[in-house]
Order: sequence, then structure tokens, then C-alpha cells
Amino acid sequence: MCGIVGYVGSGDAVEVILEGLSKLEYRGYDSAGVALIQNGKIRIEKKSGKLNNLKNHLEENPILSQVGIGHTRWATHGEPTDINSHPHYSEDKSVAVVHNGIIENYISLKKDLQKKGYKFISDTDTEVIAHLFHFFYDGDMIDTLRKVLKEVRGSYAFGIVHEKHPNELLCARKDSPLVIGIGENQNFIASDVPALLKYTKNVYFLENGDYAKIIKDKIEIYDYEDKLVIRDKHEIKWTLDQATKGGYPHFMIKEIYEQPKTLEETLRRRIREDYSIDFNELLTKEELENIKDIYIIACGTAYHAGLQGEYAIEKIAKLRVDVEVASEFRYSDPFVDKNTLAIFVSQSGETLDTLLAMKECKKKGATTLAITNVVGSTISREADKVIYTMAGPEIAVASTKAYTNQVLTLFLFAIYLGDLKNSITMEEKILLLNELKSIPEKISEIFKYEDKIKFIAQELKDVNNGFFVGRGLDYKVALEGSLKMKEISYIHTEAFASGELKHGTIALIEKGIPVVVLATQKNLIEKSISNIKELKAREAKIITIAQKSDMELSEVSDRIIYIPDTLDITSGLLSVIPLQLLAYYTSLYKGIDVDKPRNLAKSVTVE
Ligand code: F6R
Repeated sequence: MCGIVGYVGSGDAVEVILEGLSKLEYRGYDSAGVALIQNGKIRIEKKSGKLNNLKNHLEENPILSQVGIGHTRWATHGEPTDINSHPHYSEDKSVAVVHNGIIENYISLKKDLQKKGYKFISDTDTEVIAHLFHFFYDGDMIDTLRKVLKEVRGSYAFGIVHEKHPNELLCARKDSPLVIGIGENQNFIASDVPALLKYTKNVYFLENGDYAKIIKDKIEIYDYEDKLVIRDKHEIKWTLDQATKGGYPHFMIKEIYEQPKTLEETLRRRIREDYSIDFNELLTKEELENIKDIYIIACGTAYHAGLQGEYAIEKIAKLRVDVEVASEFRYSDPFVDKNTLAIFVSQSGETLDTLLAMKECKKKGATTLAITNVVGSTISREADKVIYTMAGPEIAVASTKAYTNQVLTLFLFAIYLGDLKNSITMEEKILLLNELKSIPEKISEIFKYEDKIKFIAQELKDVNNGFFVGRGLDYKVALEGSLKMKEISYIHTEAFASGELKHGTIALIEKGIPVVVLATQKNLIEKSISNIKELKAREAKIITIAQKSDMELSEVSDRIIYIPDTLDITSGLLSVIPLQLLAYYTSLYKGIDVDKPRNLAKSVTVE
């Protein structure tokens, strides 16, 4: 996720901004830049790659300045190149802007500005802000900012400087975090607290819609109704390590908790007002008609997301899909030709098994589509078409928010295909999309049961073996629950289709063995209850995950965790949440390094 740092004071702006950006490196980025006012002119320096590239460049080409803004960019619009890096200038270089978030109406704003003669040099949505600011500039910074904010839609945190105002720094935020650091004879802005801790512990957390003018000894904050307001001053008590994790003890739990927000971002980006799906004309009707086979190919958790995607595409678009483990795919002599659509799901976009499977498909003439979280990653570059997930950087080895974002993206893709094929009615689509829109809030509901999950994790921490079972879609989620538990708690668990147990595995069921039963599919409840009874007859300990209204399951379960009621097809986006939490707390109680479990790497670039 992008990082912003800004400074106004009497110190060395370059040093403060680079130090601040270095403390935001944990958020992930692919380029970095600064805009500094020196002798009444703005100088922008930016470099793709690591912050050190920029640091070295600035050491060789020093800038003396006391006002400036800096940015680390996690690409969303346009490749991670020097040109697309932030800050962005207005055409006459009088204005410089850094931005986090997404300007949803940037295309129409860009067209209007182009008609007025403005020339754009980058592919970013941010550049419109610099030109708009130039267009509206009337000599008063805050008045100009107000006019700009009236034009933009979307989510943003901005930092803005203007050459004619060498002692001022502007900022604004909506749906993207921004804090103002309060210093002595110097003030700061940053997208996150760690960037400020070396200089100050006193901050204002801006509220949604707030904007501010900052000079070295004065901070003026306005709210979304343009009223001058006084925000509470907070004293930060976190250490740097705590602050990097947003106050959470581990990245994994932070990322679990980020899911409502990241899913909301995906929904906001992809669902248009008329309930069509915005995938930028990914496929035409004719192209889809030529497609005879669809494969989803991925590894690990991404493969499990693919399984939910298969279910959604088959049910919604009525197209047959095969999901394949990437490491096996190349060696299975697959039926792939020019009539194949091969979808590759990868958080990192660098997984070698997935990449090699993609190369194989390309060689055979297939159309390749990457669903990945990292703009400019190898898989995104090699694919014919790309959909980016909006999970933001995932740092914990165990994938959580990337998974739910992959699943949601695949659901939206299924609806997109359903629209092209006319296999879904408007009523069905509205029902499904409204349910998907409610998922972030329902996930937040599940967080309220955390204590119960902690209690179950305490019970699980001492077991050596366990099972995850489910039928239909529940089985696909059981696979992910089992993987999560294995990789971070080192407890041996296996996932089975509930009906398959009696064909062999039930021999392993004995007194006290924990079995997590996913039973969220309403049409399969009866069958799930029978399976639970089989297991209970052998004295297994049953931990059930069910929809809230299916109370009857509590009678046959030892422990039960409810998820809010939802459509059966969307239940996997909810039922996975308690499984992520269960794995996290079990790992925590076992004293394992949750974020970096043994033998695992975040990005697997070997075959
Ligand atoms: C498990 C996990 C892995 C990855 C797999 C694929 O929590 O993270 O199973 O899902 O290595 O990685 P990506 O999605 O980067 O291709």
C-alpha cells in the first residue's frame, strides 16, 4: 500500500521524508519519490525500485529544502516505472501531489482537462489532481484545494505543495488514512504513525473528509462541510514495531482484520451503479463464444480460492471449469489450445509453478488471464489480460486477505461472464451483488466471536491431529482451513469431503480427535448432521461452523461458531474467517512465529 510523508519546518526536509518513508517500507512499494521546494521552485526526484535507489540519487544530487512531500508507491494504475511514480507535477511544475487511494472518476476528469489543453505524461489517476489544482489555483491554497475536492470521487489521501507557497503543506483524506504529526516549529503528515515516531508522538488522526493547511507552527483542519474544526490530539504510546503492525501483535491478525476494508475496496472499484461489473472490457461476447475450456491454475491458498471461483463460474455463468494445481498442470499434458481461457491466480504474481504453467498455456495458444495482487509482477506482465485484486500488500506468510480478495474477484468475474452469456437475470444479479456488498460488514460481525475462537484454539493447541470436513462449497473452504492450520500451528490436519470419510479416513477417528465441520450449505444440512453423528459415535470432538439461523446444529456439536446468514454460494467468504482466526490463535498459543512459520517463504520462486 502506498505511503505518504510530508514535512514543513526548519529542519532538513529530505532527511525527514526519507526517514519517514523508510518506516513505511513494510507496507510494500515498487517506487519512491519526493517533491521539495528549493529556491521557489519544486524539484521532483523519483525512482522505481527500492527506496535506496532514491536515497543514493539524492546523495549524489542533494536538495536543500524545508518543505516537501514524499511517497512510496504500490502500483494500481500503470506499471511501476519512474514516470508513474509519485509525486506528480502540474504541467508548469508549480504544483506537486502525492496520493494514496483511487480517483474513481479520473478518466472523465482527465478528458475534461485534456479538452482544456492539459497534457498528461503518466498513466496514473493522481496526475489529474496536479492539473486540477493548477486549473483552480486562485492564490489561496485552501480555497483551491476545496475546489479540487469538490470534483474528485473515490478514496484518497493527498499531500500537495505549491511553489508560490514555500511554507505551506496541504493534505486531505477520504477512505484512506492520513495523520498529522505535531512538532515544535515543524509539522508532518504521514499515511501511518511509524513514519513520525522518530520526530513526534503527538498526532491528529484526520477524519473522513477532513483537509488541512499546515505551516511550521500552525495546523488548520477543515471538515467535509468546510468548517474549521479542532480534532483531538493523541499521544502515541506504541513502539515502532507495534506501530508498523497498526497496533496488532502480528501482520497476520492485522491482515485478517483488514479484510472488510479490502473487500469493500474491491466492491467499490468493480460494481458499477447499473450493477454491471467493471473489468475494463476484458472479454467480448465473441471471444467468450470461442472459449471451449476454462482452467483456473494456482498453488496453495490461491488454488483454494480457485476452487471457490470454479463453483461460482459454474453456477453463475454456467460454464464448465477445471481447477488445477500449477505444479502438476504442466506434466499432465492438459487439453489446452486457442479455445482455452486459462486463469492464473497468484497473490505475489511471482510463483514459479504458476508462471511456468502460464508459459505452457501460452505456447499452446490459450488466452491467459492473471488474477494477482502485485502490479507489474512477472505473472501480470506475461499474461494476456490482468485483473488486480485490491488486497494491498500481504506480509504474513499465511495468506488471508489475499485469499478473500481472490475469491471475491472470481465471483465478480463469474457475474461478468454471466452477463456476457446472459445466464443470470437482473434479479439474480442484484440479489447476489447486494449480498456480496454486505460481506464486509458480516465479516466484522464474525470478529465479535473472537473470544469463543480463542477458547477453542486453547483446546486445540495440544492436539497432534485433526480434520476439516464439509460438503459442496464447504469442502473447498475446509481445504483452506486445514492448510492454514497446518502451516502456522504445525498441527497435522487433513480436509475431506464429508461423504468421503466413510470410504477410509473414518478409521482414523478416535476419542477426542477434533473435527472442524463446515455446515453452511442449507440444502446439505441434513446430510451434515448425519456425518456429525457418524463422527460423534466415534467420540470425535465436533467444532461446527454454521449459518446463524441453523440452530439445530448446536445440538450435535461440541463447539459451534456461527457466521451471519448469507446465500449458500457466498458463505465461503464468511466461513473462512473463523478458520483463519482459529489457525492464528492456535499458532499464537503454541508460541510459534505466526508471521514467519518454519520452512515457508512468502513468494515461492522455485519449482
Ligand atoms: C498459504 C500460502 C501459499 C500461497 C501459494 C501461492 O497461506 O500463502 O499457499 O497461496 O504459495 O502463492 P501466490 O498466491 O503468491 O502465487
